[in-house]
Formats: sequence, structure tokens, C-alpha cells
Amino acid sequence: MIDLTFTVNGSTVSLWTEPQRRLLDILREDLQLTGAKPGCGIGRCGACMVWLDEVPANSCLLMAFQLQGRHVHTIEAVATQAVSAPVRTAMAQCGGLQCGYCTGGLVMTLTHLHRQQPPPDLEQAQALAAGNICRCTGYGGIKRAMQQLFPAAGTSLENHIETGTEQCHL
Ligand code: FES
Ligand code: FES
Repeated sequence: MIDLTFTVNGSTVSLWTEPQRRLLDILREDLQLTGAKPGCGIGRCGACMVWLDEVPANSCLLMAFQLQGRHVHTIEAVATQAVSAPVRTAMAQCGGLQCGYCTGGLVMTLTHLHRQQPPPDLEQAQALAAGNICRCTGYGGIKRAMQQLFPAAGTSLENHIETGTEQCHL
């Protein structure tokens, strides 16, 4: 067992826990933060995505002993922040969600990409988000949302902001 202290969504968390306990289980079982979803359990689907020190990470692959002094953010906090508003709006307007199981993880990944200065272009963003698997939308809506969020290669960000918001209005 280890004494573990880290922060979750800005609040300090102290636990006496097994060193190989998964962050995903700590969040869901100890902290009642169920926005990170259990999926594949092996880092392949992104349903459990959080930010670790501001970088997207699969919480099913993070063990308690790796968390000492680190800073975790979950979809519960990020979904209330202005930084995720463009992503949430694009996903809603473009039909980028159905059952919602993958949506939290996708919002965590896309928000991280969208807040970069400059953000990646569409092709880069699609490659970087490839680890987020959706089991039910067929990806059409998610792809439209990403077209709204990220400029195609060679397109200026300013032009994209002017035209991109016109792409999905359901
Ligand atoms: S449950 Fe963590 S990546 Fe799939
Ligand atoms: S919306 Fe159902 S898994 Fe993606």
C-alpha cells in the first residue's frame, strides 16, 4: 500500500491505496467521477481519457504509483470550462454523439488539440484523435465536427473560423 497525494480537477486528493490500482478505478470508485468510462482496458479506445498534467492520457493505463504529485483533470471539470465550448458545440451541432459513451473521451482529446496555438490541421487532428474509438455514430458526425474545428491543410485559421461555423447547423 502507498500514501498517494495528487490533485483532481484542482482539488487535493489523499489516498492509502494499492500502488497498482488504476486511475480509472480510483476516479470512478473512490471519487465518484464516472465521466471517464471503462472500455477496452488496454489503452486502445480512449473512453477513459483524462488529462495528466494537461496532456491527454488513458486512465486505464495509469497506476496509482505514477500519480504522486501529478495533476489530473476529468471531463466533469473540462465540460464546464469555456475552453471546451467550441468542441462541445461542434459535436452537438454536427451530430457527433449518439449513446455518448465515447463522447467524454473525445471532448478531452479534441479540446486539448483545439486549444493548441496554433491548432493542428484537420489531417493532423484526425491522426491524433485516432485513439478515440466510437462504437455507434459511424463517425460521420464526428468527422463533420472536426471539419468545423480544424482547418484543412493549407487553409488559414482565420478563413476557417469564418467559414467553419457554417458547416453544421442541424
Ligand atoms: S478503457 Fe482506457 S483506452 Fe479503452
Ligand atoms: S456515441 Fe456511442 S460510442 Fe460513440
